Amino acid sequence: MAHAAEFFDVRALPPVDLIFGRTPAMAVAREKLERIADTTVPVLVQGESGTGKDILAKLLHARSSRSNCPWIKVTCPAIPSTLIESELFGYEKGAFTGAYATKRGRVELAHQGTLFLDEVGSLDISAQAKLLQVLQDGSFMRVGAQEPRKVNTRLICAANGDLRRQTEDGSFRLDFFFRINAVTIDLLPLRQRTGDLPTLIDFFLDLHAKTYRVKPKALSRDIMNMMQRFNWPGNIRQLENMIRSYVLIGNEETLAADLIPPPPTEFVPEIDLTNPISLKKITKAATRQLERQIILKVLHANRWNRLKTARWLNISYRSLLYKLQDAQASSVVSREMGASFGEAKSAQYADSK
Ligand SMILES: Nc1ncnc2c1ncn2[C@@H]1O[C@H](COP(=O)(O)OP(=O)(O)OP(=O)(O)O)[C@@H](O)[C@H]1O
Ligand SMILES: [Mg+2]
Repeated sequence: MAHAAEFFDVRALPPVDLIFGRTPAMAVAREKLERIADTTVPVLVQGESGTGKDILAKLLHARSSRSNCPWIKVTCPAIPSTLIESELFGYEKGAFTGAYATKRGRVELAHQGTLFLDEVGSLDISAQAKLLQVLQDGSFMRVGAQEPRKVNTRLICAANGDLRRQTEDGSFRLDFFFRINAVTIDLLPLRQRTGDLPTLIDFFLDLHAKTYRVKPKALSRDIMNMMQRFNWPGNIRQLENMIRSYVLIGNEETLAADLIPPPPTEFVPEIDLTNPISLKKITKAATRQLERQIILKVLHANRWNRLKTARWLNISYRSLLYKLQDAQASSVVSREMGASFGEAKSAQYADSK
């Protein structure tokens, strides 16, 4: 894995007025940024995917007196848990087989600069404990070292999930959570800042027109209206991608097709019409059927990981397994997973992969 500090060109960041737009909640985020950029306070940037967390973290670094020092980004889910400790803290020569030379970790590389932990929610619990120490007094140990070392770095974390909820189910340390969120900056989903759509669209039209040297037509009123109503699950990244392909393809039809939400899956309860049946019974059966469809949809979205699915649906893991058995979904699901639902042990193994 590359260990060099990542450099970014501040001029490549979108203009600040565009980033924050004119929605009041974004003005709050902007004010926080201005106040705390040039301090050492740890910052937690929260927002859905594509709302600009990376951009904001870079802006914090760029606006601090550390801007000429390293900017080190760690994408937490990209590093396997077996390697996270040596990646973060480095190792001494001979610390383990294959450690032929001493290597500095990302924490050490971020000395005097900024350490950005992206998707911090997936950080290993033991790494959290060690980072807590860095936050407390700047000390850490390289793997295999006898003596602790000191580092002076500013920590910025980003999360797109609910860390507080993770502290409740034990996958995130409460003390670490309180340390990293000395200041929290929340970025709004695009659907809650549609007033900023015209400015964002103009910006991306102009940007990509220049890149591809074409002159796109302005978007029609119909498309603008569709965009105002659209849900934007991928937020500004999705908007930018749409505009880029519009600039390249040059017609609105593809754009319009992307803006039509998929029809809701029709739900028709199974009713046995050969014999009379009470409404209460049908409703009960229908609720179960609906529950099963919802669970399957969320399971699918989480790549059949039941731990994540249970978290997502805010039910316990046990109750998810129970519901799966109860709704007789096990046949479908176990086919997908090659596991049996009665066996919590094998299920846990599959989920933790
Ligand atoms: N506020 C914004 N102003 C202008 N462009 C933005 C803004 N937010 C996001 N973008 C655009 O969307 C892209 C994605 O932004 P970014 O990588 O910062 O999102 P993110 O919140 O870190 O997403 P993820 O959670 O998927 O990592 C950027 O490259 C940029 O083009
Ligand atoms: Mg990001």
